[in-house]
Amino acid sequence: MQSISIQNIQDLKGSETPFATLTAYDYTSAKLVEKAEIPLILVGDSASMVMLGYENTIPITVDEMMVFVRAVTRGAKKPLIIADMPFMSYQSSVEDSMRNAGRFIKEGGAGGVKLEGGVRVVPQIEAIVSMGVPVMGHLGLTPQSLHQFSGYKIQGKSVATAQQIIDDAKALESAGAFSVVLEGIPLELSKIITEVLDIPTIGIGAGPFCDGQIQVFHDILGLFENFIPKHTKRYANFGSSIVENICSYRKDIEARVFPTDKQSVHLPKGVLEKLTY
Ligand code: KIV
Repeated sequence: MQSISIQNIQDLKGSETPFATLTAYDYTSAKLVEKAEIPLILVGDSASMVMLGYENTIPITVDEMMVFVRAVTRGAKKPLIIADMPFMSYQSSVEDSMRNAGRFIKEGGAGGVKLEGGVRVVPQIEAIVSMGVPVMGHLGLTPQSLHQFSGYKIQGKSVATAQQIIDDAKALESAGAFSVVLEGIPLELSKIITEVLDIPTIGIGAGPFCDGQIQVFHDILGLFENFIPKHTKRYANFGSSIVENICSYRKDIEARVFPTDKQSVHLPKGVLEKLTY
């Protein structure tokens, strides 16, 4: 099975048909995402909330992310797998960013890393790319800057902030990013950025004009019920369906309907008679 390369993703730039990407965090879900022919899996730091139950993406560590990245790379062999660099794994210094990006490739088996921010992370992107590690950028409503934004608020609504995001996008491309996620920005802005960049844009809450789209696995499948982001669409309600099925299991146990002889094993002939009890 030929795995998807950075070049394959870059070749999707400007294609008539936008491409779908998705997050995954474990072996089983990564296999399912691969079966659905998704070309790129992001092991997002959204794992902080949907897998570890933290309130936002700030607390998750490199070591915690590494467990998820390794599980996903064991599960999915064809899609390009990008590891999300958590808060404080790259902001603190260029050296930290290189060491941590290197860990995701060497220990995690990822094909690239993603980090949030514009001009201010250009030195980190240049350094990581110079190590031979592909970098995906992330602009707009970047969740690691939640406190600076005073909450999850759409970014780029004024002339100054919209212009800053355009300039940041160009800076990321010049620094060597192979693609850029645009999150929580007006669709007119993501359309402009998609037109001016030569690298693919991947939108989430950024309208329909990006080259590709990304969503969180748990959001589209109805598995995370703490809140439903406006940018998502629910394709299933597996959360409720899992609860219903677990209730059926519990009721079967209580009613002695399960397990039956069918799911049990018998002692070999002659053993029972010889037991003293
Ligand atoms: O952490 C994440 O899941 C993300 C995407 C949704 C872009 O950063």
